[in-house]
Amino acid sequence: MDMYSDVLIIGTGIAGLYSALNISSNLNIIILSKSEAYECDTYLAQGGISTALNEEDKKSFVLDTLKAGHFKNNKKSVQILADESIESISNLSKLGVEFDIKNNDFDYTREGAHSVNRIVHSTDKTGKAVFDTLYSNVIKKKNINLIENTCIFNLITENNQCFGAIGIHNNKIYNFHSKITILASGGIGGIFKNSTNQKTLTADGISIAVRNHIELKDINYIQFHPTALYEKKPLNRNFLISESVRGEGAKLLNINNKRFVNELLPRDVVANAIYNEELKSKSNYVYLDLSSMDGNFIRKRFPLIYKGCMERGLDITKEKIPVTPVQHYFMGGIKVNLNGRTSMKNLYAAGEISNTGVHGANRLASNSLLEGLVFSKRAAININNTILNITLKCIKTNLTFETALNEIQKNKQIAIETFQTALGGKKDELVTI
Ligand code: SIN
Repeated sequence: MDMYSDVLIIGTGIAGLYSALNISSNLNIIILSKSEAYECDTYLAQGGISTALNEEDKKSFVLDTLKAGHFKNNKKSVQILADESIESISNLSKLGVEFDIKNNDFDYTREGAHSVNRIVHSTDKTGKAVFDTLYSNVIKKKNINLIENTCIFNLITENNQCFGAIGIHNNKIYNFHSKITILASGGIGGIFKNSTNQKTLTADGISIAVRNHIELKDINYIQFHPTALYEKKPLNRNFLISESVRGEGAKLLNINNKRFVNELLPRDVVANAIYNEELKSKSNYVYLDLSSMDGNFIRKRFPLIYKGCMERGLDITKEKIPVTPVQHYFMGGIKVNLNGRTSMKNLYAAGEISNTGVHGANRLASNSLLEGLVFSKRAAININNTILNITLKCIKTNLTFETALNEIQKNKQIAIETFQTALGGKKDELVTI
């Protein structure tokens, strides 16, 4: 089967949906999701979205981002992130996202390594609020065709130029021919034994990049979130206990009920402190203690976490939460310039699969959704300004269904091998093929 578009977007997380909304309505867009559209990491995000509070706060926001990233960040990207943050949040509000409000202003919360409260949120369901709003705007648009349950396994290319992608939908092979392609296929957690990510996110963008010799960057920069709920046998993925719970005052205690770290240090520092504590005490977890918070506050401020724990038999208004670090985010990825362009012509990347350099070696909490907004919009604007010069070229591919299934399996293998090398000593964290 063959389908045609001006712009093909692979992925329905924040970067995929927001780029679609910022691409000119005169252009015809196809946007694909691997499973159902909501099965993206954006939907799972709890804590919120960072933003500079005002002009004066930009400097300190930049510095916090650089410090958390061990100064391995691209400074220009970080400045852009801060400069375009206020407008990004205001655009989301205009589109319909309802952030929590206090005293006629956003109810800014705090997370690790932020020097002030500067995170907007929608209780602890920020990702769902953002996804639902962007999705409902996207499906209203006549120029956008959103197709779910489509597994893309390769690009259509010639001479390092991208002319679309190939995938499987409804047990048939589809060639999606396009002038421009945006890879916004999300994270890599699906290839880890323990991760907060959707299981379907198996680093497809990285495998596709490796196959096509597209430039990657910093692929050993993988973030472990300090506080996932510890369960002997988690169902599907590990349940996240947002860093904003610590931002609102929860404390980390070892199994002897002793505090061992400042809870609001950068994420990698806190995750390492927990690992060390677990080793010392020969335990698989430490505790997160919310006893400084009133039960009503907990239920109102963290309804998702309260309900998720309750369903697992834990009342967090009365009991401490056993937590442990698990894979959470990928700072490395497909190298892009400040407009989302990759090393392949007519191919852009945005969101977690891209590497804008904004996060350095360790992402500052709640900067991921912001990066998705800022840099996917920049990619969209760049596309609007350049697409007139591109002609659609339809290159036919002739694969059998069996070959396509093999290619999908091969992608998972490529991803695991790529990250085995990148992770060195920690490679037992990966699932086996
Ligand atoms: C969290 O709520 O702790 C996750 C937010 C993030 O990954 O930035």
